[in-house]
Amino acid sequence: DLSTFFLGRPLTAPLMNASGVWCNVNSQLHALAESEAGAMVTKSCTLLRRDGNPEPRYHTLTMGSINSMGLPNEGHQYYLDYAERHDYENKPLFFSVAGLTLDDNLTIVAQIQDAYTPALLELNLSCPNVPGKAQIAYDFDALDVILAEISSAYSRPFGVKLPPYFDIAHFDEVADILNRYEKVNFITCINSIGNGLMIDMESETVLIKPKQGFGGIGGEYVLPTALANVNAFHQRCPKKSIIGCGGVNTGEHVFMHLLAGASIVQVGTALYEQGPDIFVRLKAELAQIMQEKGYKTIREFQGKLKTL
Ligand code: DHB
Repeated sequence: DLSTFFLGRPLTAPLMNASGVWCNVNSQLHALAESEAGAMVTKSCTLLRRDGNPEPRYHTLTMGSINSMGLPNEGHQYYLDYAERHDYENKPLFFSVAGLTLDDNLTIVAQIQDAYTPALLELNLSCPNVPGKAQIAYDFDALDVILAEISSAYSRPFGVKLPPYFDIAHFDEVADILNRYEKVNFITCINSIGNGLMIDMESETVLIKPKQGFGGIGGEYVLPTALANVNAFHQRCPKKSIIGCGGVNTGEHVFMHLLAGASIVQVGTALYEQGPDIFVRLKAELAQIMQEKGYKTIREFQGKLKTL
Protein backbone atom coordinates (compact mmCIF):
# COMPACT_ATOMS: atom_id res chain seq x y z
CA ASP A 1 0.00 0.00 0.00
CA LEU A 2 1.74 3.14 -1.26
CA SER A 3 -0.99 5.55 -0.19
CA THR A 4 -0.09 8.37 2.16
CA PHE A 5 -1.22 11.75 3.45
CA PHE A 6 0.32 15.19 2.98
CA LEU A 7 -1.00 18.06 5.15
CA GLY A 8 -4.23 16.11 5.56
CA ARG A 9 -4.63 15.40 1.85
CA PRO A 10 -4.70 11.77 0.63
CA LEU A 11 -2.17 10.73 -2.05
CA THR A 12 -2.20 7.43 -3.95
CA ALA A 13 1.64 7.39 -3.87
CA PRO A 14 4.40 9.59 -2.37
CA LEU A 15 5.65 10.65 -5.81
CA MET A 16 5.42 13.77 -7.96
CA ASN A 17 7.36 15.77 -10.55
CA ALA A 18 10.01 18.30 -9.57
CA SER A 19 9.03 21.79 -10.63
CA GLY A 20 10.34 22.66 -14.08
CA VAL A 21 9.98 19.15 -15.45
CA TRP A 22 6.92 18.23 -17.54
CA CYS A 23 4.84 21.09 -16.16
CA ASN A 24 5.39 24.17 -18.36
CA VAL A 25 2.26 23.93 -20.50
CA ASN A 26 -1.26 22.49 -20.23
CA SER A 27 -0.53 19.36 -22.31
CA GLN A 28 2.29 18.40 -19.92
CA LEU A 29 0.23 19.26 -16.82
CA HIS A 30 -2.60 17.09 -18.11
CA ALA A 31 -0.15 14.23 -18.73
CA LEU A 32 0.99 14.47 -15.09
CA ALA A 33 -2.63 14.59 -13.93
CA GLU A 34 -3.27 11.36 -15.88
CA SER A 35 -0.04 9.70 -14.68
CA GLU A 36 0.56 7.50 -11.63
CA ALA A 37 2.16 10.43 -9.74
CA GLY A 38 0.42 11.03 -6.41
CA ALA A 39 0.75 14.82 -6.67
CA MET A 40 2.12 17.40 -9.10
CA VAL A 41 3.60 20.89 -9.25
CA THR A 42 3.49 23.63 -11.88
CA LYS A 43 6.56 25.24 -13.49
CA SER A 44 8.00 28.03 -11.35
CA CYS A 45 6.26 31.14 -12.61
CA THR A 46 7.09 34.80 -12.78
CA LEU A 47 4.60 37.67 -12.96
CA LEU A 48 4.89 37.78 -16.76
CA ARG A 49 5.69 35.22 -19.45
CA ARG A 50 9.40 34.61 -20.17
CA ASP A 51 11.21 32.91 -23.06
CA GLY A 52 14.09 31.90 -20.79
CA ASN A 53 17.76 31.59 -21.73
CA PRO A 54 19.13 30.85 -25.23
CA GLU A 55 19.40 27.19 -26.34
CA PRO A 56 21.03 24.76 -25.91
CA ARG A 57 20.12 25.11 -22.21
CA TYR A 58 19.80 21.48 -21.04
CA HIS A 59 22.30 18.68 -21.55
CA THR A 60 22.28 15.06 -20.42
CA LEU A 61 25.40 14.00 -18.47
CA THR A 62 26.78 10.55 -17.62
CA MET A 63 25.16 10.60 -14.19
CA GLY A 64 22.52 13.31 -14.49
CA SER A 65 21.98 16.63 -16.18
CA ILE A 66 23.07 20.24 -16.42
CA ASN A 67 20.56 23.01 -17.16
CA SER A 68 20.26 26.75 -17.36
CA MET A 69 16.68 27.19 -18.52
CA GLY A 70 16.34 30.73 -17.12
CA LEU A 71 12.73 30.47 -15.94
CA PRO A 72 10.95 30.03 -19.27
CA ASN A 73 7.28 30.09 -18.24
CA GLU A 74 3.87 31.23 -19.41
CA GLY A 75 3.39 33.79 -16.63
CA HIS A 76 1.52 33.28 -13.36
CA GLN A 77 -1.99 33.79 -14.78
CA TYR A 78 -1.60 30.76 -17.10
CA TYR A 79 -0.86 28.45 -14.17
CA LEU A 80 -3.66 30.01 -12.11
CA ASP A 81 -6.01 29.18 -15.00
CA TYR A 82 -4.76 25.57 -14.82
CA ALA A 83 -5.16 25.56 -11.02
CA GLU A 84 -8.80 26.65 -11.38
CA ARG A 85 -9.50 23.67 -13.64
CA HIS A 86 -7.38 21.03 -11.88
CA ASP A 87 -9.17 17.95 -10.45
CA TYR A 88 -8.13 18.09 -6.78
CA GLU A 89 -9.99 14.84 -6.05
CA ASN A 90 -7.58 13.09 -8.41
CA LYS A 91 -4.38 14.48 -6.80
CA PRO A 92 -3.09 17.54 -4.95
CA LEU A 93 -1.56 20.38 -6.99
CA PHE A 94 1.38 22.50 -5.88
CA PHE A 95 1.81 25.96 -7.38
CA SER A 96 5.47 26.98 -7.75
CA VAL A 97 6.26 30.70 -7.63
CA ALA A 98 9.63 32.29 -8.45
CA GLY A 99 8.98 36.00 -8.85
CA LEU A 100 11.98 38.09 -9.91
CA THR A 101 11.48 40.58 -7.08
CA LEU A 102 9.84 40.61 -3.65
CA ASP A 103 7.06 42.81 -5.07
CA ASP A 104 6.42 40.34 -7.90
CA ASN A 105 6.21 37.48 -5.39
CA LEU A 106 3.76 39.47 -3.25
CA THR A 107 1.61 40.28 -6.29
CA ILE A 108 1.53 36.63 -7.39
CA VAL A 109 0.68 35.21 -3.95
CA ALA A 110 -2.12 37.79 -3.58
CA GLN A 111 -3.56 36.51 -6.88
CA ILE A 112 -3.29 32.88 -5.74
CA GLN A 113 -5.09 33.78 -2.54
CA ASP A 114 -7.89 35.51 -4.44
CA ALA A 115 -8.31 32.54 -6.78
CA TYR A 116 -9.48 30.36 -3.85
CA THR A 117 -8.07 27.17 -5.36
CA PRO A 118 -6.84 24.36 -3.08
CA ALA A 119 -3.39 24.53 -4.73
CA LEU A 120 -0.47 24.57 -2.28
CA LEU A 121 2.09 27.34 -2.70
CA GLU A 122 5.70 26.17 -3.14
CA LEU A 123 7.76 29.37 -2.96
CA ASN A 124 10.95 28.83 -4.96
CA LEU A 125 13.86 30.55 -3.19
CA SER A 126 16.56 28.74 -5.13
CA CYS A 127 16.60 29.31 -8.89
CA PRO A 128 20.30 29.42 -9.88
CA ASN A 129 19.86 30.25 -13.56
CA VAL A 130 18.72 33.84 -14.06
CA PRO A 131 21.80 35.90 -15.02
CA GLY A 132 22.48 38.58 -12.41
CA LYS A 133 19.97 37.20 -9.85
CA ALA A 134 21.36 35.74 -6.63
CA GLN A 135 19.62 32.77 -5.00
CA ILE A 136 17.52 34.25 -2.16
CA ALA A 137 18.00 31.25 0.11
CA TYR A 138 21.80 31.74 0.15
CA ASP A 139 21.28 35.25 1.63
CA PHE A 140 19.92 34.54 5.11
CA ASP A 141 18.82 38.14 5.76
CA ALA A 142 16.92 38.22 2.45
CA LEU A 143 15.42 34.80 3.33
CA ASP A 144 14.11 36.16 6.62
CA VAL A 145 12.63 39.24 4.92
CA ILE A 146 10.80 37.32 2.19
CA LEU A 147 9.37 34.81 4.70
CA ALA A 148 8.15 37.66 6.90
CA GLU A 149 6.55 39.45 3.95
CA ILE A 150 4.92 36.37 2.40
CA SER A 151 3.72 35.19 5.83
CA SER A 152 1.91 38.46 6.43
CA ALA A 153 0.53 38.74 2.87
CA TYR A 154 -0.64 35.13 2.49
CA SER A 155 -3.24 33.69 4.84
CA ARG A 156 -2.64 29.99 4.11
CA PRO A 157 0.12 27.50 4.92
CA PHE A 158 2.85 27.33 2.27
CA GLY A 159 6.19 25.71 1.54
CA VAL A 160 9.65 26.74 0.38
CA LYS A 161 11.93 25.16 -2.21
CA LEU A 162 15.50 25.37 -0.94
CA PRO A 163 18.86 25.03 -2.62
CA PRO A 164 21.33 22.49 -1.23
CA TYR A 165 23.40 23.53 1.79
CA PHE A 166 26.78 22.00 2.53
CA ASP A 167 27.62 23.13 6.05
CA ILE A 168 26.10 22.08 9.38
CA ALA A 169 26.14 25.72 10.57
CA HIS A 170 24.03 26.63 7.53
CA PHE A 171 21.52 23.83 8.26
CA ASP A 172 21.22 25.22 11.80
CA GLU A 173 20.83 28.83 10.73
CA VAL A 174 18.30 28.21 7.94
CA ALA A 175 16.23 25.86 10.14
CA ASP A 176 16.14 28.50 12.89
CA ILE A 177 14.82 31.06 10.41
CA LEU A 178 12.19 28.67 8.96
CA ASN A 179 11.04 27.61 12.44
CA ARG A 180 10.15 31.23 13.22
CA TYR A 181 7.48 31.11 10.48
CA GLU A 182 4.55 28.89 11.46
CA LYS A 183 2.90 29.23 8.07
CA VAL A 184 5.87 27.49 6.46
CA ASN A 185 4.35 24.00 6.62
CA PHE A 186 6.70 22.22 4.24
CA ILE A 187 10.25 22.41 2.92
CA THR A 188 11.29 21.02 -0.45
CA CYS A 189 14.96 19.91 -0.47
CA ILE A 190 16.77 20.28 -2.86
CA ASN A 191 16.91 22.39 -5.99
CA SER A 192 19.76 21.61 -8.38
CA ILE A 193 23.36 22.00 -7.22
CA GLY A 194 23.85 25.41 -8.75
CA ASN A 195 26.43 26.54 -11.28
CA GLY A 196 28.25 23.35 -12.11
CA LEU A 197 30.23 23.02 -15.34
CA MET A 198 30.80 20.09 -17.69
CA ILE A 199 32.98 19.95 -20.79
CA ASP A 200 32.84 18.12 -24.11
CA MET A 201 36.31 16.52 -24.51
CA GLU A 202 36.42 16.34 -28.29
CA SER A 203 35.43 19.94 -29.02
CA GLU A 204 36.87 21.33 -25.75
CA THR A 205 33.72 23.38 -25.19
CA VAL A 206 31.02 23.81 -22.61
CA LEU A 207 27.72 21.93 -23.09
CA ILE A 208 25.12 24.66 -22.68
CA LYS A 209 24.97 28.19 -24.08
CA PRO A 210 23.82 30.42 -21.17
CA LYS A 211 26.24 31.74 -18.54
CA GLN A 212 29.34 30.44 -20.37
CA GLY A 213 28.25 26.86 -19.70
CA PHE A 214 27.48 27.13 -15.98
CA GLY A 215 24.24 25.45 -14.92
CA GLY A 216 22.33 23.55 -12.25
CA ILE A 217 23.31 19.91 -11.75
CA GLY A 218 20.62 17.27 -11.27
CA GLY A 219 20.33 13.50 -11.28
CA GLU A 220 22.48 10.83 -9.65
CA TYR A 221 25.32 13.30 -8.89
CA VAL A 222 23.14 15.08 -6.33
CA LEU A 223 21.57 12.14 -4.42
CA PRO A 224 23.85 12.23 -1.32
CA THR A 225 23.51 16.01 -1.05
CA ALA A 226 19.73 15.72 -1.40
CA LEU A 227 19.47 13.01 1.28
CA ALA A 228 21.62 15.07 3.66
CA ASN A 229 19.45 18.16 3.21
CA VAL A 230 16.20 16.18 3.58
CA ASN A 231 17.42 14.55 6.79
CA ALA A 232 19.02 17.73 8.19
CA PHE A 233 15.76 19.69 7.87
CA HIS A 234 13.63 16.72 8.97
CA GLN A 235 15.63 16.64 12.21
CA ARG A 236 15.66 20.39 12.76
CA CYS A 237 12.08 21.25 11.74
CA PRO A 238 9.91 18.63 13.52
CA LYS A 239 6.68 20.61 12.96
CA LYS A 240 7.19 20.86 9.19
CA SER A 241 6.87 18.28 6.42
CA ILE A 242 9.76 17.63 4.05
CA ILE A 243 9.44 17.02 0.32
CA GLY A 244 12.51 15.24 -1.03
CA CYS A 245 14.01 16.08 -4.42
CA GLY A 246 17.30 15.09 -5.98
CA GLY A 247 18.81 12.09 -7.69
CA VAL A 248 15.73 9.87 -7.85
CA ASN A 249 15.63 7.29 -10.65
CA THR A 250 14.74 4.03 -8.85
CA GLY A 251 12.49 2.70 -6.09
CA GLU A 252 15.59 2.45 -3.88
CA HIS A 253 16.21 6.17 -4.25
CA VAL A 254 12.55 6.87 -3.34
CA PHE A 255 12.85 4.58 -0.30
CA MET A 256 16.03 6.39 0.84
CA HIS A 257 14.39 9.82 0.61
CA LEU A 258 11.36 8.57 2.61
CA LEU A 259 13.62 6.94 5.21
CA ALA A 260 15.59 10.22 5.55
CA GLY A 261 12.32 12.01 6.36
CA ALA A 262 10.62 13.00 3.11
CA SER A 263 6.81 12.77 2.97
CA ILE A 264 6.70 13.03 -0.83
CA VAL A 265 9.54 12.47 -3.30
CA GLN A 266 9.96 14.58 -6.44
CA VAL A 267 11.50 13.40 -9.69
CA GLY A 268 13.33 15.85 -11.98
CA THR A 269 16.09 14.72 -14.32
CA ALA A 270 14.82 11.12 -14.60
CA LEU A 271 11.29 12.37 -15.42
CA TYR A 272 12.75 14.73 -18.04
CA GLU A 273 14.61 11.81 -19.65
CA GLN A 274 11.92 9.11 -19.33
CA GLY A 275 8.55 10.90 -19.24
CA PRO A 276 5.55 10.44 -16.92
CA ASP A 277 5.44 6.63 -17.36
CA ILE A 278 8.42 6.59 -14.96
CA PHE A 279 5.94 6.77 -12.07
CA VAL A 280 4.61 3.29 -12.95
CA ARG A 281 8.13 1.81 -12.60
CA LEU A 282 9.01 3.79 -9.46
CA LYS A 283 5.79 2.63 -7.76
CA ALA A 284 6.43 -1.00 -8.70
CA GLU A 285 10.05 -0.84 -7.47
CA LEU A 286 9.08 0.86 -4.20
CA ALA A 287 6.29 -1.69 -3.60
CA GLN A 288 8.77 -4.53 -4.26
CA ILE A 289 11.29 -3.13 -1.75
CA MET A 290 8.59 -2.67 0.89
CA GLN A 291 7.37 -6.22 0.37
CA GLU A 292 10.92 -7.64 0.67
CA LYS A 293 11.46 -5.67 3.87
CA GLY A 294 8.05 -6.57 5.30
CA TYR A 295 6.68 -3.02 5.37
CA LYS A 296 2.97 -2.76 4.62
CA THR A 297 2.69 1.04 4.75
CA ILE A 298 4.92 4.08 4.16
CA ARG A 299 4.47 5.37 7.72
CA GLU A 300 6.17 2.25 9.13
CA PHE A 301 9.56 3.47 7.85
CA GLN A 302 9.15 7.14 6.85
CA GLY A 303 11.71 9.26 8.77
CA LYS A 304 13.06 6.20 10.59
CA LEU A 305 16.64 6.37 9.35
CA LYS A 306 19.04 4.69 11.80
CA THR A 307 22.47 6.00 12.80
CA LEU A 308 25.52 4.10 14.06
C1 DHB B 1 14.98 27.30 -13.28
C2 DHB B 1 15.85 26.47 -12.63
C3 DHB B 1 15.65 26.20 -11.31
O1 DHB B 1 16.47 25.35 -10.64
C4 DHB B 1 14.61 26.80 -10.64
O2 DHB B 1 14.44 26.53 -9.35
C5 DHB B 1 13.74 27.65 -11.28
C6 DHB B 1 13.93 27.90 -12.61
C7 DHB B 1 15.18 27.60 -14.68
O3 DHB B 1 16.33 27.69 -15.11
O4 DHB B 1 14.17 27.77 -15.40
